[in-house]
Amino acid sequence: MTEPSKAIHATLIHSLSPTQLQVIPDALITVSSSGTILTIQPNVPSSNISNILAEQKIENIPLTKLSHGQFLIPGFVDTHNHAPQWMQRGLGQGMHILDWLDGITFPNEAKFEDASHAEKVYEKLVRGMLRQGVTTASYYGSLHGEATRVLASTCLKGGQRALIGKCNMDRNSPSFYCETSAEESVSATKACIQYIRTIDPEGSLVKPVLTPRFAISCTAQLLKSLGEMAHEDPCLAIQTHFNEAAQEINATLSLFPEFSNEADLYSSFGLLTPRSILAHCTIMTPYEINKLQDLGCGVAHCPTANMTVGGGFMAAPVKEFLRKGINVGLGTDSGGGYSSSMLNAMRHSLITSYAREALYPKFESEKNESVSKEGGGGETLSWEEVFYMATKGGAKVVGFEEQVGGFAVGMEFDALVIDMRDEREGVNVPLDEESDSAERMLEKFVMTGDDRNIAQVYVKGKLVHGSDI
Ligand code: GUN
Ligand code: FE
Repeated sequence: MTEPSKAIHATLIHSLSPTQLQVIPDALITVSSSGTILTIQPNVPSSNISNILAEQKIENIPLTKLSHGQFLIPGFVDTHNHAPQWMQRGLGQGMHILDWLDGITFPNEAKFEDASHAEKVYEKLVRGMLRQGVTTASYYGSLHGEATRVLASTCLKGGQRALIGKCNMDRNSPSFYCETSAEESVSATKACIQYIRTIDPEGSLVKPVLTPRFAISCTAQLLKSLGEMAHEDPCLAIQTHFNEAAQEINATLSLFPEFSNEADLYSSFGLLTPRSILAHCTIMTPYEINKLQDLGCGVAHCPTANMTVGGGFMAAPVKEFLRKGINVGLGTDSGGGYSSSMLNAMRHSLITSYAREALYPKFESEKNESVSKEGGGGETLSWEEVFYMATKGGAKVVGFEEQVGGFAVGMEFDALVIDMRDEREGVNVPLDEESDSAERMLEKFVMTGDDRNIAQVYVKGKLVHGSDI
């Protein structure tokens, strides 16, 4: 039997569904040395902890006891992040997507040809993401095999759970940042997959993901080969950008005139599956929404980038995805998103849903008439829904829902200790010790907190940020 290696006494809060939170007050959790949750016992008074541990003959394991004003939530899952864009966050806001790629992003990503540059940047990235509570990320690397292998090793060493993809791009990119053929792109991708599976054979923390950047930068031959790889290897996830902005959709359809929409295009190459993570999905017809639903694809909703880079204020039909049971997670899309904070992604996803509600008639043409509408357009998300998307919803989108995104016996312990006690210098959170329930403290954290309130970060049971409490 697996022995417990640590115990934590805390109030837990997690999502059971998009609209349902569960609070487990004063829970005593034990975690194995491999990071699995062994027991969760609710309503344990502080005075009883040592008796319970003694009864189980585990009184010598380290115990972390949280105080009032502190609680535990699942780690955040960033379903869409560009690792090499860590240093370019904030640049080029308001630019149209293809101009931003050419002017800012490709010259920046080209620097990752130098693996020592990748080492420096990726160490900062992994530390920075963990500090912000991102315990799982789905990363796009640059097009370079070596730098992408560095990214995988850095996540493994730093203790971050991640999907890692070498970008595929064999056309419509500058000569200094473009693969020379589909064959070269595929063989570099295979080498990367093999490397990732060698350094982490069980996929305990890092796993590969196929990453055709988008159809504009991939020849039909490359898309076809990647679709075949996905078909042959049912463990491989797939990520790409999908219906991000008008400029991108127009360019895509003029490169592939045989298709009238991106859902038909990507599915014809075998790239739309339940393992697909589709970033953005902003301009969606009912036909395409139904197709994503039928094919079981996941959506990486990236509200920060959708409002600031790409060309226009794009408010994705998230509520409609949720009504249809499509899996939706949140992505920072850092650096297209200027912020790498999942707290900002949550707030921006609330705000863009309010914008959709206010502009509802503008979006009516996208609507399926059979959909019921609560209130105005039925577009408004709640803070509970955005918290769900940042945790459990994201875990489903990236294929990790059995391991992370919530707390249950048998799941892995990826968790954040949130500290809302405002007596600490510089932490400006409106905590009312007298009347704040756990839900109210979480709501305040989601809307007003920042990384100073993330006191500890655990991935697979290991403390990867913060110090002992
Ligand atoms: N489409 C293709 N590449 C990118 C990228 O790096 N960021 C965003 N936001 N969209 C893209
Ligand atoms: Fe992106």
